[in-house]
Amino acid sequence: MVVGLKLGLIGLLGAAAVHAAPAATRASEIEQRSSTCTFSGAKGAASAIKSKTSCSTIVLSSVAVPAGTTLDLTGLNKGTTVIFEGETTFGYKEWSGPLVSVSGTDITVQGASGAYLNGDGARWWDGKGTNGGKTKPKFFYAHKLINSKIEDIYIKNSPVQVFSINGANDLTLSGITVNNADGDANGGHNTDAFDIGSSTGVYITSPNVHNQDDCLAINSGSDISFTGATCTGGHGISIGSVGGRSDNTVENVTIENCSITDSANGVRVKTVYGATGSVKNVTYKNIALSGISDYGIVVEQDYKNGSPTGTPTSGVPITGLTVSNVHGTVDSSATDIYVLCASGACSDWTWSGVSVKGGKTSSKCKNVPSSASC
Ligand SMILES: *[C@@H]1O[C@H](CO)[C@@H](O)[C@H](O)[C@H]1NC(C)=O
Ligand SMILES: *[C@@H]1O[C@H](CO)[C@@H](O)[C@H](O)[C@H]1NC(C)=O
Ligand SMILES: *[C@@H]1O[C@H](CO)[C@@H](O)[C@H](O)[C@H]1NC(C)=O
Repeated sequence: MVVGLKLGLIGLLGAAAVHAAPAATRASEIEQRSSTCTFSGAKGAASAIKSKTSCSTIVLSSVAVPAGTTLDLTGLNKGTTVIFEGETTFGYKEWSGPLVSVSGTDITVQGASGAYLNGDGARWWDGKGTNGGKTKPKFFYAHKLINSKIEDIYIKNSPVQVFSINGANDLTLSGITVNNADGDANGGHNTDAFDIGSSTGVYITSPNVHNQDDCLAINSGSDISFTGATCTGGHGISIGSVGGRSDNTVENVTIENCSITDSANGVRVKTVYGATGSVKNVTYKNIALSGISDYGIVVEQDYKNGSPTGTPTSGVPITGLTVSNVHGTVDSSATDIYVLCASGACSDWTWSGVSVKGGKTSSKCKNVPSSASC
């Protein structure tokens, strides 16, 4: 429901005074350029979907999105701003989602102070994530967003994966919170915070994540940075698994100034057994680890169907991997560092200031480049 429609009246009067254009034409042009539309309540999603290309600013104020509906903000006009206010809720249905989808050029998506998108994921959580049980909706598709930004969005209790970033070009995500802490004890699973594929120029700054899968997973893409992140409870900051998809190149990635706490892994790079592709020029710098239960740093070229095979293959070489000042502690039952490369498939690595302690030393590392060590 449109509860507010503010026209750029001064602009309208000014334009009408200067040009002798028919008033109706001028008014509709200016409305499109400068109208703020506010949508709220149970009918807000349907109205916003219907009117999205008539508004330069879309305010979603306490919208209750019906079950099985995507809050579909794809194909927005160039330069549109979307502002979430209050609590956005979503009805319950077993389906794959997404709950929200946004695409366009020069788009700004913002969360107002105190706003949050409440997935109420407990309705779906069954400990199985995407591996079975209930079909769970993914949360937020940021697909085909060009020269755009997503700012200050707070996501609470996602049913499963949160941000899917695909086909993006120059997209900045700043001040994002993913708070799935309730999922720790209640069956939250595969709640990846940021999954990136086929994108060029994705810059994620200062995200605060508490979830039950990767804090970041990059499957393909280039020119990607992830800085100042706080990652708690999940599987760590990951590249991969790379290989076996339509796009299998990861290049020019910087992960810097992050903390990874109470997670399965710290730093992880995994490539797919028997596949082809490449991982080039990835830097992990200034990363603090604590409470890691499996691996502090893990690089392996043996993944198949989501699990390690123990046999690395060389089709997805990992070159130019810089690991600098990655430090901290892992649990005593964990492994400090594990590197499993195929012969000749890991090269040009620069590791310095790496200090991961508290766990076991792996006896299974293979083909470890000279500047690294297990
Ligand atoms: C490596 O990637 C970074 C961005 O993460 C970029 O600034 C740098 O130029 C790249 N270096 C090479 C040798 O490609
Ligand atoms: C990676 O960065 C280098 C150096 O800036 C650049 O030459 C190369 O094209 C980049 N790779 C990709 C895939 O963008
Ligand atoms: C990482 O932290 C250092 C030290 O605080 C700071 O100088 C640097 O600019 C930070 N890097 C990024 C990419 O924010």
